[in-house]
Amino acid sequence: MENSKTTSQKSTSGSDKSNFSKKASMKSSQLMELFEHGLKDIYWAENATLKAIPKMVEKSTSDDLKDALTAHLEETKGHISRLDKVFGLIKIKAQGEKCVAMEGLIKETHDITETCEEGSMRDAGIIAAVQKMEHYEIATYGTLRQFAETMDMTEVEALLATTLQEEKEADLKLSDVAMDAINVDAAEEAA
Ligand SMILES: [Fe+2]
Ligand SMILES: [Fe+2]
Repeated sequence: MENSKTTSQKSTSGSDKSNFSKKASMKSSQLMELFEHGLKDIYWAENATLKAIPKMVEKSTSDDLKDALTAHLEETKGHISRLDKVFGLIKIKAQGEKCVAMEGLIKETHDITETCEEGSMRDAGIIAAVQKMEHYEIATYGTLRQFAETMDMTEVEALLATTLQEEKEADLKLSDVAMDAINVDAAEEAA
């Protein structure tokens, strides 16, 4: 009798364990699904940014701003090729999913370049709009890097962390450009 009770307890505890691991694997597959969705979203956003930046360079007046945007255009190509590597590492096809947020942020930059007159005011507007785009990228890469760490994908995490760092530096560079000249000139133009 005692023996049968022990067996029954063991069997219940074994079944709890298997339910637990089933739940854990369901959670990790859901995290992977979110991760893949986030990758496709940022892949679309990076490609849209690649197309949008040259127009912003063309519409900018400050040489510092043109240089900062041109440098980030080159970095953006690197971000896309890092994402290609990430897709390869997790063995899924590299493809974008329309990112409505980035589409809206890019539209804001177009509205600024179309409505502001050429000069410091327009430059200040371009910086403000591009910084919003940078912050979207920073938020997304920050999340994806964390997901990769949680799922023990060391190589993937390192690739995403490198891009995250470049996005943060691009954002700081734009703040420097704005503080150094453009916002001061724009305020003088408005006075
Ligand atoms: Fe990027
Ligand atoms: Fe960026």
